[in-house]
Amino acid sequence: MLSRERIDTIVRHYGRDILKHEHMEIERRSLQHGDVTTYGHSLRVAALSVWIADRLRLWNCVDLRALVRAALLHDYFLYDWHDDDGGSHRLHGFRHPYTAEANARADFELDDVVLNSIRTHMFPLTPVPPRYLEGVIVNVADTVSAVQETIASRLRRVRRTRAARKHEQVGERCRR
Ligand SMILES: [Fe+2]
Ligand SMILES: [Fe+2]
Repeated sequence: MLSRERIDTIVRHYGRDILKHEHMEIERRSLQHGDVTTYGHSLRVAALSVWIADRLRLWNCVDLRALVRAALLHDYFLYDWHDDDGGSHRLHGFRHPYTAEANARADFELDDVVLNSIRTHMFPLTPVPPRYLEGVIVNVADTVSAVQETIASRLRRVRRTRAARKHEQVGERCRR
Protein backbone atom coordinates (compact mmCIF):
# COMPACT_ATOMS: atom_id res chain seq x y z
CA MET A 1 0.00 0.00 0.00
CA LEU A 2 1.31 3.43 -0.94
CA SER A 3 2.18 5.89 1.81
CA ARG A 4 0.97 9.50 1.78
CA GLU A 5 4.51 10.64 0.86
CA ARG A 6 4.76 8.18 -2.04
CA ILE A 7 1.36 9.29 -3.37
CA ASP A 8 2.51 12.92 -3.17
CA THR A 9 5.67 12.02 -5.13
CA ILE A 10 3.60 10.27 -7.83
CA VAL A 11 1.27 13.29 -8.18
CA ARG A 12 4.19 15.72 -8.46
CA HIS A 13 6.00 13.42 -10.91
CA TYR A 14 3.13 12.98 -13.39
CA GLY A 15 1.79 16.49 -12.88
CA ARG A 16 5.08 18.43 -12.81
CA ASP A 17 4.41 20.55 -15.93
CA ILE A 18 0.79 21.19 -14.89
CA LEU A 19 1.73 22.32 -11.37
CA LYS A 20 4.46 24.58 -12.79
CA HIS A 21 2.23 26.19 -15.43
CA GLU A 22 1.70 29.95 -15.04
CA HIS A 23 -2.10 29.51 -15.13
CA MET A 24 -1.89 27.55 -11.88
CA GLU A 25 -1.29 30.95 -10.27
CA ILE A 26 -4.99 31.67 -10.95
CA GLU A 27 -5.93 28.41 -9.18
CA ARG A 28 -3.68 29.36 -6.25
CA ARG A 29 -5.59 32.58 -5.61
CA SER A 30 -9.12 31.26 -6.40
CA LEU A 31 -11.25 29.81 -3.65
CA GLN A 32 -13.08 26.58 -4.37
CA HIS A 33 -14.73 25.19 -1.21
CA GLY A 34 -14.75 27.45 1.85
CA ASP A 35 -11.17 28.61 2.45
CA VAL A 36 -9.64 25.90 0.22
CA THR A 37 -8.15 27.12 -3.08
CA THR A 38 -8.81 25.45 -6.42
CA TYR A 39 -5.09 24.53 -6.45
CA GLY A 40 -5.29 22.85 -3.03
CA HIS A 41 -8.51 21.10 -4.02
CA SER A 42 -7.00 19.78 -7.27
CA LEU A 43 -3.97 18.41 -5.42
CA ARG A 44 -6.27 16.71 -2.91
CA VAL A 45 -8.38 15.14 -5.67
CA ALA A 46 -5.22 13.89 -7.41
CA ALA A 47 -3.84 12.34 -4.19
CA LEU A 48 -7.20 10.75 -3.34
CA SER A 49 -7.55 9.38 -6.90
CA VAL A 50 -4.16 7.65 -6.61
CA TRP A 51 -5.11 6.41 -3.13
CA ILE A 52 -8.38 4.89 -4.47
CA ALA A 53 -6.56 3.20 -7.38
CA ASP A 54 -4.01 1.81 -4.92
CA ARG A 55 -6.43 0.60 -2.24
CA LEU A 56 -8.74 -1.01 -4.83
CA ARG A 57 -5.68 -2.59 -6.52
CA LEU A 58 -6.55 -1.11 -9.89
CA TRP A 59 -2.95 -0.78 -11.10
CA ASN A 60 -3.48 -3.06 -14.09
CA CYS A 61 -6.59 -1.24 -15.29
CA VAL A 62 -5.64 2.38 -14.67
CA ASP A 63 -3.31 4.71 -16.60
CA LEU A 64 -1.70 6.39 -13.60
CA ARG A 65 -0.31 9.35 -15.55
CA ALA A 66 -3.72 10.06 -17.13
CA LEU A 67 -5.43 9.67 -13.75
CA VAL A 68 -3.16 12.22 -12.06
CA ARG A 69 -3.40 14.68 -14.96
CA ALA A 70 -7.19 14.43 -15.17
CA ALA A 71 -7.49 15.01 -11.43
CA LEU A 72 -5.13 18.01 -11.46
CA LEU A 73 -6.96 19.59 -14.42
CA HIS A 74 -10.58 18.69 -13.62
CA ASP A 75 -11.31 22.22 -12.30
CA TYR A 76 -8.98 24.10 -14.68
CA PHE A 77 -11.68 26.69 -15.43
CA LEU A 78 -9.30 29.51 -14.39
CA TYR A 79 -11.52 32.01 -12.58
CA ASP A 80 -12.86 32.41 -9.07
CA TRP A 81 -16.52 31.45 -9.30
CA HIS A 82 -17.25 33.64 -6.26
CA ASP A 83 -16.29 36.79 -8.21
CA ASP A 84 -19.15 38.95 -9.39
CA ASP A 85 -18.82 39.00 -13.16
CA GLY A 86 -22.25 40.22 -14.17
CA GLY A 87 -23.84 36.78 -13.98
CA SER A 88 -21.78 34.70 -16.40
CA HIS A 89 -20.70 32.34 -13.55
CA ARG A 90 -24.33 31.65 -12.70
CA LEU A 91 -24.32 28.24 -14.35
CA HIS A 92 -20.81 27.47 -13.11
CA GLY A 93 -21.77 24.02 -11.78
CA PHE A 94 -22.97 22.87 -15.20
CA ARG A 95 -20.52 24.71 -17.45
CA HIS A 96 -17.17 24.57 -15.71
CA PRO A 97 -16.22 21.01 -16.82
CA TYR A 98 -16.39 22.17 -20.46
CA THR A 99 -14.43 25.37 -19.72
CA ALA A 100 -11.83 23.32 -17.84
CA GLU A 101 -11.53 20.90 -20.77
CA ALA A 102 -11.09 23.74 -23.30
CA ASN A 103 -8.42 25.44 -21.14
CA ALA A 104 -6.61 22.14 -20.53
CA ARG A 105 -6.67 21.35 -24.25
CA ALA A 106 -5.19 24.79 -25.01
CA ASP A 107 -2.35 24.50 -22.47
CA PHE A 108 -1.35 20.80 -22.58
CA GLU A 109 -1.09 17.77 -24.89
CA LEU A 110 -3.78 15.46 -23.51
CA ASP A 111 -5.36 12.20 -24.60
CA ASP A 112 -9.05 11.30 -24.57
CA VAL A 113 -8.82 9.58 -21.16
CA VAL A 114 -7.85 12.89 -19.56
CA LEU A 115 -10.18 15.09 -21.63
CA ASN A 116 -13.21 12.84 -21.13
CA SER A 117 -12.51 12.58 -17.39
CA ILE A 118 -12.36 16.38 -17.05
CA ARG A 119 -15.54 16.84 -19.11
CA THR A 120 -17.58 14.29 -17.13
CA HIS A 121 -16.32 14.95 -13.59
CA MET A 122 -19.60 16.58 -12.53
CA PHE A 123 -21.79 13.64 -13.60
CA PRO A 124 -24.72 13.28 -12.76
CA LEU A 125 -25.04 17.10 -12.68
CA THR A 126 -23.93 17.01 -16.32
CA PRO A 127 -25.70 14.38 -18.44
CA VAL A 128 -22.93 12.13 -19.81
CA PRO A 129 -21.11 9.67 -17.48
CA PRO A 130 -17.32 9.11 -17.63
CA ARG A 131 -16.20 6.76 -20.41
CA TYR A 132 -13.07 5.57 -18.60
CA LEU A 133 -12.30 4.12 -15.18
CA GLU A 134 -9.94 7.06 -14.57
CA GLY A 135 -12.94 9.40 -14.96
CA VAL A 136 -15.03 7.39 -12.52
CA ILE A 137 -12.22 7.58 -9.94
CA VAL A 138 -11.78 11.35 -10.41
CA ASN A 139 -15.56 11.81 -10.11
CA VAL A 140 -15.65 9.94 -6.79
CA ALA A 141 -12.47 11.60 -5.44
CA ASP A 142 -13.85 15.04 -6.37
CA THR A 143 -17.15 14.44 -4.57
CA VAL A 144 -15.45 13.11 -1.42
CA SER A 145 -12.90 15.97 -1.40
CA ALA A 146 -15.60 18.63 -1.89
CA VAL A 147 -17.56 17.32 1.12
CA GLN A 148 -14.39 17.03 3.29
CA GLU A 149 -13.19 20.52 2.36
CA THR A 150 -16.57 22.16 2.93
CA ILE A 151 -17.00 20.57 6.37
CA ALA A 152 -13.38 21.26 7.42
CA SER A 153 -13.67 24.92 6.30
CA ARG A 154 -16.88 25.39 8.28
CA LEU A 155 -15.31 23.86 11.39
CA ARG A 156 -12.28 26.16 11.04
CA ARG A 157 -14.63 29.18 10.75
CA VAL A 158 -16.59 28.12 13.86
CA ARG A 159 -13.33 27.65 15.80
CA ARG A 160 -12.04 31.06 14.67
CA THR A 161 -15.32 32.78 15.67
CA ARG A 162 -15.29 31.07 19.08
CA ALA A 163 -11.65 32.03 19.68
CA ALA A 164 -12.36 35.65 18.69
CA ARG A 165 -15.36 35.77 21.05
CA LYS A 166 -13.32 34.34 23.90
CA HIS A 167 -10.57 36.87 23.21
CA GLU A 168 -13.14 39.70 23.35
CA GLN A 169 -14.61 38.41 26.63
CA VAL A 170 -11.16 38.20 28.23
CA GLY A 171 -10.42 41.74 27.01
CA GLU A 172 -13.69 43.02 28.53
CA ARG A 173 -12.93 41.33 31.85
CA CYS A 174 -9.45 42.89 31.95
CA ARG A 175 -10.87 46.38 31.24
CA ARG A 176 -13.35 46.10 34.16
FE1 LIG B 1 -15.56 20.71 -10.68
FE1 LIG C 1 -13.48 19.67 -8.14
